[in-house]
Amino acid sequence: MKNKDDIVIVSAVRTPFSRFDSAMMDISSIDLAVIVMNEVIRRVGVKPEDVDEINYGSCVMAEMALETDIPVRQASLLAGFPPEILSVTLDRACCSSLTALRMGYRAIKAGDAEVCMAVGAENMPRAPHLAPGLRKGVRIGHIRLMDNLFELGYTAKGFAPVSVDAGEVALEYGVSRTMQDEWAVKSQERYAQAFAEGKFKIGEEIIPVVVPQKKGDPVVIEKDEAPRKTSMEALAKLKPVYGSPTVTAGNAPPISAGSSALLFMTRKKAEEKKLKPLATIIASIGTATIPREIAVIPALSIQQVLKKAGMTIEEMSLIEINEAFAAMPLVSTKILADSNEKKWLELQERTNVNGGAIAIGHPVGASAARITMTLAYELRRRGGGYGVASICGGLAQGEAIILKVE
Ligand SMILES: CC(C)(COP(=O)(O)OP(=O)(O)OC[C@H]1O[C@@H](n2cnc3c(N)ncnc32)[C@H](O)[C@@H]1OP(=O)(O)O)[C@@H](O)C(=O)NCCC(=O)NCCS
Repeated sequence: MKNKDDIVIVSAVRTPFSRFDSAMMDISSIDLAVIVMNEVIRRVGVKPEDVDEINYGSCVMAEMALETDIPVRQASLLAGFPPEILSVTLDRACCSSLTALRMGYRAIKAGDAEVCMAVGAENMPRAPHLAPGLRKGVRIGHIRLMDNLFELGYTAKGFAPVSVDAGEVALEYGVSRTMQDEWAVKSQERYAQAFAEGKFKIGEEIIPVVVPQKKGDPVVIEKDEAPRKTSMEALAKLKPVYGSPTVTAGNAPPISAGSSALLFMTRKKAEEKKLKPLATIIASIGTATIPREIAVIPALSIQQVLKKAGMTIEEMSLIEINEAFAAMPLVSTKILADSNEKKWLELQERTNVNGGAIAIGHPVGASAARITMTLAYELRRRGGGYGVASICGGLAQGEAIILKVE
């Protein structure tokens, strides 16, 4: 039943997600954020001064450090939001932009805000190498350069690379390398079909990124850059990365740049502004478990958010599980199916129906808002219904959200 206090998403937009070697590599994550922060309000005629709070997820700190810190404060001022607006930059790894939404959701529920924005922005290829120790000087010996994109794990503090944990746990759940490659092929094929059908088009999920060039016309990026044709034969030839038993460049997402934004408010406020909700937020939740269980946490998060909403997985017409690697949707749908083979296949059919991060890309801080809007737009195309989106984040953190589209 519709309630005036429901919190509804009224606008959702993202940039295309990039390949590693992209023209987007030269645009700061702050500037990528400015693009979506402007567009997400412009599309629905909301003024900057109508927004009470902006929460902003970003987690590749080396890239942010090029502009010092507080990226959201810089982005909101550059985007023309009033200087009085409250904003927070947060890092909950790949979960971050859904955590940003959950913070705004709480602020609205607590009566501290009426209109909130959740932003995710990342430019992973732009992350510089780090030169620790230079401040003290190098008396004798080589200067050490570090790449914190390398291994994408938390190895400096003794944790395993994410791809190792994901691959090992997948095998323990009976999810083989072949199954992960098959999922990767499916992700690419589903994306290609969705794109051919006109999904992921400008004006809906996507706003183009214009990259000025030193000479000549700017480069205009209008679509996701990472999708590629592939085959089981080609994927089988790829060697695992970072010591993982199963994860390869083919069944992992590429390293990407991109940004995304969601605008949400109470239904009452949306009605006052004569805005048609894109989706109602039924429930959202943050979770965490033991670090090694990174491929399991989307399932745990979905179970917990369903419990919170008093709903079942059967009631969800669509499921989005972020393809941090192919292992995540496979392991998590298997857990949700309680290892029932038939139910597992059936859940896989409803999961990431338009492809996922393996094809689209995964600019980590921006992906949680991306899966949320991809879910909302697809539910709308199908005439409505309930759907659930979930994402894992570094050292087994999770977020999940249930949406209803009328
Ligand atoms: C996996 C990873 C290391 C690969 O990086 P990379 O080596 O720069 O990637 P490339 O795109 O150059 O791919 C490597 C090779 O695999 C091939 N390849 C990649 N995807 C392929 C596909 N779908 N089909 C066939 N071949 C593929 C490339 O053509 C390339 O081959 P080449 O060496 O002969 O040119 C990097 O993308 C990565 O770290 N991804 C994971 C990101 C991540 O962990 N995100 C967070 C999750 S929590």
